[in-house]
Amino acid sequence: MKSTPIILLLILSTITLNAQKTIDDRVDSLIKIMTLEEKVGQMNQYNGFWELTGPAPTDGLASKKYKHLELGWVGSMLNVRGVKNVRKIQEIAVNKTRLGIPIIFGFDIIHGHKTLSPIPLAEAASWDLEAIRKSAEIAATEAAAVGINWTFAPMVDISRDARWGRVMEGAGEDTYLGTKIGVERIKGFQGDDLSATNTIAATAKHFAAYGFAESGKDYNTVDISSSTLHNVVFPPFKAAVENDVKTVMNAFNVVNGVPATGNKYLQRDILKKKWNFQGFVISDWGSGVEMINHGFAENLEDVAVKSANAGSDMDMESYAYVNHLVASVRNGKVKEEVVDDAVRRILKVKFELGLFDDPFKYCNEAREKEMIYHPDHIAASLDMAKKSIVLLKNEKNILPLAKNEEGILVVGALANDKNSPLGSWRIGSDDNSAVSVLESLKEMNIDFDYEKGADVVVGETNFINEVKVNNTDKSGFGTAVEAAKKAKKIIMVLGEHGFQSGEGRSRAQLGLPGIQQELLEEIYAVNPNIVLVLMNGRPLTIPWADENIPAIVEAWQLGTQSGHAITSVLFGDYNPSGKLPMTFPRSVGQIPIYYNYLPTGRPGPKKAVFWSHYSDETNEPLYPFGYGLSYTTFEYSNFKANATNNNQIQVSVTVTNTGKMKGEEVVQLYIRDKVASISRPVKELKGFDKISLEGNESKEVTFTLTEDELGFYMPDGEFVFEKGTFEIMVGGNSKDLLRQEVILK
Ligand code: BGC
Repeated sequence: MKSTPIILLLILSTITLNAQKTIDDRVDSLIKIMTLEEKVGQMNQYNGFWELTGPAPTDGLASKKYKHLELGWVGSMLNVRGVKNVRKIQEIAVNKTRLGIPIIFGFDIIHGHKTLSPIPLAEAASWDLEAIRKSAEIAATEAAAVGINWTFAPMVDISRDARWGRVMEGAGEDTYLGTKIGVERIKGFQGDDLSATNTIAATAKHFAAYGFAESGKDYNTVDISSSTLHNVVFPPFKAAVENDVKTVMNAFNVVNGVPATGNKYLQRDILKKKWNFQGFVISDWGSGVEMINHGFAENLEDVAVKSANAGSDMDMESYAYVNHLVASVRNGKVKEEVVDDAVRRILKVKFELGLFDDPFKYCNEAREKEMIYHPDHIAASLDMAKKSIVLLKNEKNILPLAKNEEGILVVGALANDKNSPLGSWRIGSDDNSAVSVLESLKEMNIDFDYEKGADVVVGETNFINEVKVNNTDKSGFGTAVEAAKKAKKIIMVLGEHGFQSGEGRSRAQLGLPGIQQELLEEIYAVNPNIVLVLMNGRPLTIPWADENIPAIVEAWQLGTQSGHAITSVLFGDYNPSGKLPMTFPRSVGQIPIYYNYLPTGRPGPKKAVFWSHYSDETNEPLYPFGYGLSYTTFEYSNFKANATNNNQIQVSVTVTNTGKMKGEEVVQLYIRDKVASISRPVKELKGFDKISLEGNESKEVTFTLTEDELGFYMPDGEFVFEKGTFEIMVGGNSKDLLRQEVILK
């Protein structure tokens, strides 16, 4: 093994001798001795798809990438994980290249590495910021232990469209909640000390407005107003920057006709200038070369020029920078300062991670072995999974079920599925590593029978291929219906396959996929005592179930501990406390449907048809944002909202657990600015507090609204606070609220 190149050692040692030298100085010293090729190399990221620990590849793309690694033309790699693999690549970078600059290893650690937490949308339903932060901390610990030092998470895209498969990856439809959660995830990944061996750099993605893909179709065009951009889409990114997120990923879509990767307004004017972002921008996978399809770039050279000039610092898999950027600098189309700025940002993050002090610090086999599926991680993922469950309906308190209940029948392929509950975006995980509902019931010695009823999908499923839904095979219906006739209570586990949501997985119909709705209705026809457990990566349209089925439990895709979490709710060991982070539509035609819409000039209902409504569907959602039941009940009283003389509003409310069972409630605070320079939403979440109450216990919850919460962005991006009348609302969901008006003079 060759040691670190002498030239770099010289630079670094002068630096370490001088304690005053900051990372910035170290970066500057390094940039000074780099050739243009080496600089551009830092801006190039490659996917590592070949057998990394085997012999060096000798032909094709792999051999080209390998040679580029040896030349120092690769600054980062993605999808390389496992200490052995990471070490192999890092050895090439450190020992074979002229300057020995270490590689930064990126990977999509979206909801865990091996130990999987619930999908991010499910975690958001917990409204539990501490648990969410912990979940990211665990993900970082496991990722760092397998050699990763950078995650492409959190996705902080706000989305109002459940057809878009990637809603599973975000925190839902609300900017306030999404901002709080995004910040916690960043803190969880990055920790207090980025150079520690259990923290990794985070990425706020996808900048910007990727969640507004038209008609919910992934990679589709985006048409968004500047007011929505500033008030709805930008705030989680701005907060990410304020909380020192190390990288931001741009996006596949256009904003105002300009692809995000070539969008100077987004990357230079807003992100780097207005928000003073100090980290670096990574392109999305091939989002540079896709600018040719967008009709915005002529060829790959043009891609390199437009991306670099617009502020996209690192190229993920477009091959634009590595092939054309050096020439583009030499022919004057890109200034060398542009390259220097990008490289400075990239090297800075590498220094902050401590990679220059020890490029192999993430490569410790013993730690890798110890941290994967560590018992503490499993315990935390179970806790997170329980907190993510939302009780949607519980008529006549059919839930919780008694553990000694006889005659329980379980129906549904998903009850016996150890893969689907892991959800999408779990590339590093082990297949079939989730605890299924059936396994958990067996562990608990519950007396039950099982009938599959019907498969959700047919054939093999994986991250890449289109899922084939079972639309025809009803061969299991007969025995399931016969068993249902004899059962006392039926737990039906229905919903989406784990790969029906995620990237490239948009759906135009949001009912139970395939023949599951028919199965549900046939079972119901012989025995209505059904508890429906939903597994899904997005809101579903299930009005029939809501009308007919007595109990509905939203169990999303809860990760490794899925079965344990679900049964703990079904049998009352855990009192559900989750609240929906996204509106459930009644029908797809209502989409986009979200709680914080702008008022219409024609609200209703009116006798004549000339008001804003549908003739064949109500305006109401099936379940509103913020909604979720508990096994106990909560009452809100003594609500006060008062203006103070410093433009603040003090809010207080007493919340009482009116039942006997201990429970948790998410107390939600909404505002409406009644008259403003631009029309403001009918309500907007501006505070929440998750509290725990014993039976019959009361607590006073207080909030302070300041100009930060009461103000808004004008379409040009200027933040304003305007005095006047505000409606203040509190309650346990976005619909059932106590209201009061407050005037700020
Ligand atoms: C996704 C990104 C992801 C990247 C790398 C892209 O297709 O849009 O979110 O981080 O792939 O896997």
